[in-house]
Amino acid sequence: MTIRIMGTGSYLPENIVTNDDLAKIMDTSDEWIASRTGIRKRHLVKEETTAQMSAKAAKQALKEAGLKAEELDLIIVGTLSGDYVTPSTACEVQAMIGADKAVAFDVNAACSGFMFAMNTAYAFIQSGIYQNALVIGAEILSRLMDWNDRSTCVLFGDGAGAAVVTADEKGLLGFVQGSDGTKGMVLACKNRLNNNPLIKNSVEPDHVFMDGQEVYKFAVSTVPASIQAVLEEAGLEVSDIKYFLLHQANIRIIQSVAKRLKADINRFPTTLEHCGNISAASVPILLDEVNKKGMLQRGDKLVMAGFGAGLTWSAAVIEW
Ligand code: ACO
Repeated sequence: MTIRIMGTGSYLPENIVTNDDLAKIMDTSDEWIASRTGIRKRHLVKEETTAQMSAKAAKQALKEAGLKAEELDLIIVGTLSGDYVTPSTACEVQAMIGADKAVAFDVNAACSGFMFAMNTAYAFIQSGIYQNALVIGAEILSRLMDWNDRSTCVLFGDGAGAAVVTADEKGLLGFVQGSDGTKGMVLACKNRLNNNPLIKNSVEPDHVFMDGQEVYKFAVSTVPASIQAVLEEAGLEVSDIKYFLLHQANIRIIQSVAKRLKADINRFPTTLEHCGNISAASVPILLDEVNKKGMLQRGDKLVMAGFGAGLTWSAAVIEW
């Protein structure tokens, strides 16, 4: 028994911010951002919350799957930017969509969050504990940026993507995932400071900070290796795969992965241009866009891969 993706959905905030808009408030340019990253605009929330965006994406996914919210056993949200420390975004979504029967919790694996959530759903379904799961990746990264740091704040966006997965004979064909906590400080974001009056506060920043070049080196070596590993596990070759749906961090990372796999870059669809990097939401939003454009036929084989802070990484092969 494995899991099959029965429906997808996504939500992007209405407010669009272009590179030129950013150049009006900081020393940057469309040329600098687009040439180094591939990003031209991003959606940033004004009113939306992480849970509201998740619920909108979830409803689309449920509709396509032909499943009622009450039929869900499990809701997992991959996020590092929920609206509350507690309750979890998954519990908020459960209430918003009326999934009374479901068990709901979040996982934090940064940009690998959706993939880790999907694999967790797979483990529950494969073992027979649950039947139907809603898996979401959702972020409001604009909350966590240092808007005085042009080297990071131009990279990220906000949004949510969702998939409904159910028990089936075919679907997920292979999965690898990994973590390396020793490299955690390459890409990090400190939690709020301790306000206990009996101790001295640290002065560490409470926004995202990143060693971009270290992240780049990690990504261009780990992502092709994890894709090769998952293909081997599934008994498939690069040539068997129709599309490679990678976490959308940077076009140069995607180009490098394509080159290392000796795969045509046209088999690597992107959302970077209009979304930027939305961490855990990148992969499910990309999957939903590819699905909605009618690019997928039953039986197509796809690779999905996430990589990011932790450090964490994961890759899956699915049959659509
Ligand atoms: N606009 C204009 N100039 C800028 C900007 C900006 N937005 N940001 C930085 N610069 C300047 C720097 O100040 C520096 O100037 P200096 O030479 O006068 O000191 C110069 O550009 C080069 O800065 P670097 O940080 O060395 O830029 P680099 O060429 O490494 O590119 C980038 C930065 C695009 C982030 C790159 O490191 C990269 O591709 N990293 C991969 C990691 C990544 O994409 N992370 C995204 C999130 S992580 C994830 O999702 C897993």
